[in-house]
Amino acid sequence: MKVLVIGGGAREHALCRSLSLDPDVSALYCAPGNAGISEVAELRPVDALDGDAVTALATELGADLVVVGPEAPLVAGVADAVRAAGIPVFGPSGEAAQLEGSKAFAKDVMAAAGVPTARSYVCTTPEEVDEALDAFGAPYVVKDDGLAAGKGVVVTEDRAAARAHALGCDRVVIEEYLDGPEVSLFAITDGVTVVPLQPAQDFKRALDGDEGPNTGGMGAYSPLPWADPKLVDEVMELVLQPTVDELRHRGTPFSGLLYAGLAITGRGTRVIEFNARFGDPETQVVLARLRTPLAGVLLNAANGTLDVQPPLRWSEDAAVTVVIASHNYPETPRTGDVIEGLAEVAAEDAPEAYVLHAGTRREGDSVVSAGGRVLSVTATGSDLAQAREKAYKAVARIRLDGSQHRTDIAAKAAARP
Ligand code: AMP
Ligand code: GLY
Repeated sequence: MKVLVIGGGAREHALCRSLSLDPDVSALYCAPGNAGISEVAELRPVDALDGDAVTALATELGADLVVVGPEAPLVAGVADAVRAAGIPVFGPSGEAAQLEGSKAFAKDVMAAAGVPTARSYVCTTPEEVDEALDAFGAPYVVKDDGLAAGKGVVVTEDRAAARAHALGCDRVVIEEYLDGPEVSLFAITDGVTVVPLQPAQDFKRALDGDEGPNTGGMGAYSPLPWADPKLVDEVMELVLQPTVDELRHRGTPFSGLLYAGLAITGRGTRVIEFNARFGDPETQVVLARLRTPLAGVLLNAANGTLDVQPPLRWSEDAAVTVVIASHNYPETPRTGDVIEGLAEVAAEDAPEAYVLHAGTRREGDSVVSAGGRVLSVTATGSDLAQAREKAYKAVARIRLDGSQHRTDIAAKAAARP
């Protein structure tokens, strides 16, 4: 099977790594990719947001499967263009991807499907904003309606800051604050059948102790030793299957990866957000534990034949990933800094620990930073404590001027007796 992956972050590196280990994959391409992905896949340049260009590339390569990684091309309808050319594609239509592209749309789907989520108001005027802020009180949760790479959400005790963020958005969702640990649960679906993956936890804030601004995600781990063993079944029944059914009944079936961001509150599990694609950095730890070859699962989803998919197999190992970000991320990250130590990790720590690249590119003989999140250092171990130790040992070998990373990824979960 020839597979073309669209995107160029650590999630796509994780996808390409898994696909490169799949004996059914005879050729693997990534467009546009990054410096790390070039070690496991052949890179091709493409404008990932241009459906015609992606389709032309897939046709030229004779791809049997196209996997669209990031949300922006999905929302732009890139999967529709590829599908229209008769090429199997893993990723939802532009309409179905509105589940991620518009918070208001997601709330409407959840209301119709009876999916538990925070109570919310959609506001477009200052008067509506004030009413909604006062109705819920602090802490305030204010979400830009559109795509914002994980940075459109402000959670604050400060009413003035909440109001200012709201007034800076065209359309804003203001909602009830949800207390409790967060869990990311992914499911692969063909629009009818839903196959859950293993839960993971992401660390959204920039700084240790969950301080600082929201980011795209600074690290993740899986499994979650503290979570109720029935969590996956519960979320399947209350969230994932009803959402997939609702979208199918609306005539906009969702096929691809449905990402449920959940809060485990004292009053039960609630959806914080949906995404229409693999999460980053959770994918790095979830795929590190998946034993079933990936390509066939994604192809079954693309072809509408997930009902014949045998149950997924998982490793007993734990996985941890630590994101190394540029100086000044998530504000205006500095790029172009040389990254050193990659070869040492490959020589000393592989295969238990390895570096997945996010924003990197090659410059002569060097690899340099090219984005906010630069690397996602991933490790597996017999438990979280061991995986964590290996991940941080590898992190310590990497040198990138001005870079930052959290030192407490999976720390609490690993310290559990
Ligand atoms: P989102 O982009 O919707 O995932 O929001 C980013 C982050 O903001 C989430 O991971 C949560 O940490 C936080 N957040 C979003 N909505 C809520 C909420 N209703 N209550 C508490 N925290 C929230
Ligand atoms: N890890 C958060 C996201 O992928 O949106």
